[in-house]
Amino acid sequence: MDTQLIIKIIHMSAASLAIIAVVLRATTLFVGTQGNLPNPKGRVVLVALQHLAMALIALTGVIALVLKDFDVQPWFYAKVILFLVLISSLAKAYKKDEAVLMVQRRAGLFIAIVSLISIVALVIIKPNFG
Ligand code: HEM
Repeated sequence: MDTQLIIKIIHMSAASLAIIAVVLRATTLFVGTQGNLPNPKGRVVLVALQHLAMALIALTGVIALVLKDFDVQPWFYAKVILFLVLISSLAKAYKKDEAVLMVQRRAGLFIAIVSLISIVALVIIKPNFG
């Protein structure tokens, strides 16, 4: 198996792991919340899972990019921007700060999920802009 394929498999597995982590962690904003803070149960495991998945996606994404000699389609840039939106909205949703209201956290989660669905749609459809 060539390196490019191995990296792609790890990248796609990390993406699946990220989807699982985001969905599991989302439940902490709906079940067992403590005031404006998410449910603390399983927090460490969920944070670790999410960080591992996102770090692996970024690392394997950059390696894949180098292996492809940066020869990408225009939709790839949309994907990277959506990935940044995903990370920042998740950071907003789970910020360890009582001042962030639950409704704001859920709005952050909503944006994160829309970004994630859009990324998946982009990699499936591979739209041809222009
Ligand atoms: C949640 C975020 C992401 C998801 C779900 C995702 C998913 C995928 C999938 C399914 C593929 C395979 C597409 C195909 O060939 O049919 C792919 C390829 C690729 N991704 Fe991502 N990706 C994500 C984030 C990123 C990021 C942040 C980068 C760059 C830093 C990146 C760089 C790449 C590259 C360069 C390829 C092409 C690999 C190749 O053709 O050998 N991805 N991605």
